[in-house]
Amino acid sequence: MISVGLIGMGFMGKAHIDIYNRLNSEGFPVKLVALCDIDPEKLKGNFKRGNIDIGGEKPDMSRYRLYDDPDKMLDTESRAGEITVIDITLPTYLHSQFTIKALLKGFNVLCEKPMALNTKECLSMSETAAKTGKKLMIAQCLRFQPAYEYLKACVTEGRYGKVNGAYFYRGGSTPVWSHLNWLLKSELSGGALLDQHIHDVDTINWLFGLPEKVSSVAKNVIPGSGYDIVSTNYIYADGRVINAQDDWTLNGGYGFRPLFRVGFEKGNIVWENNVLTDNPNEGKSFIPELPKESGYIREIRYFLNAVSNNSPVTEAPPENTALAIRIAEAEKLSADKKGEPVSV
Ligand SMILES: NC(=O)c1ccc[n+]([C@@H]2O[C@H](COP(=O)([O-])OP(=O)(O)OC[C@H]3O[C@@H](n4cnc5c(N)ncnc54)[C@H](O)[C@@H]3O)[C@@H](O)[C@H]2O)c1
Repeated sequence: MISVGLIGMGFMGKAHIDIYNRLNSEGFPVKLVALCDIDPEKLKGNFKRGNIDIGGEKPDMSRYRLYDDPDKMLDTESRAGEITVIDITLPTYLHSQFTIKALLKGFNVLCEKPMALNTKECLSMSETAAKTGKKLMIAQCLRFQPAYEYLKACVTEGRYGKVNGAYFYRGGSTPVWSHLNWLLKSELSGGALLDQHIHDVDTINWLFGLPEKVSSVAKNVIPGSGYDIVSTNYIYADGRVINAQDDWTLNGGYGFRPLFRVGFEKGNIVWENNVLTDNPNEGKSFIPELPKESGYIREIRYFLNAVSNNSPVTEAPPENTALAIRIAEAEKLSADKKGEPVSV
């Protein structure tokens, strides 16, 4: 049985709490035993909703050891010795500090995306994992989402030949639920460019490797929040045309909509309105049968299996997810220079 402690009971923390409880009820050997948040309301089980409906009931808080201070939780729980995994669902500006502390205290760590605010922090995190021999994985959930896994297999296996072009998009309403509004403070979250767009940046690096250069145009709309809308061209040596766009200012009834469209020499794969369509140039289009589970549950189960089997975290190694932050840093610089290409 793997015992887990979770720090940060906001929108994403609540989603992770529900997943641990679901895995436990399905017989998976995991038990969430300790929770921590600075906000007393969360410790009473009063959660806020975010932009993705992940569902879940109000948990029975009496089942957990509760903490209002992450340092106290890590110190106390490391002495108690029951917990082997710490799940960090804190705001981005706290990721490196508490990931490093948890690793040094002897825990394996699953930390939410984006890995950290900058490459320097990312490197400290991955170096600490290597030094301590503990496992660290960043929850880049698209690497575990069935539609993206299907796409990844097509790219890796070369089923339709080489990639000619690709477009990735996510957009939706402005996030207004966060603790003291940290998501809309650029110095704490990095804005939409680092917080939301990072999903597609990580996907592009995961599928195609590091681009040589990026060229970004971006716009600030909400005072103080950094770049809220971004469009980036990723420049590769072979001339493939890769673009990603993000926009978190689409309010009203728009909701949240991600999509991708990837064109290969012999076909294309499109994911839109939650439906994946495979379109071979010759033959009939079809909708592949995919696992029904979300990427969130698959990513957490993957990490727990890596811990219990002591197997490497090959699907999302921290050195690789750190590259998404390096690309995003180049995008910000390019946007500051009004689209001038910047080397990655
Ligand atoms: N994978 C995804 O699809 C996805 C979706 C949303 C958010 N996220 C990520 O999850 C992380 C959290 O985002 P969120 O939307 O849940 O934010 P949030 O503000 O809703 O949650 C953060 C929680 O941390 C708590 N907190 C803040 N400072 C603390 C401290 N010093 N000690 C203890 N608790 C503290 C807050 O009270 C809050 O409950 C971010 O990194 C975000 O990018 C990922």
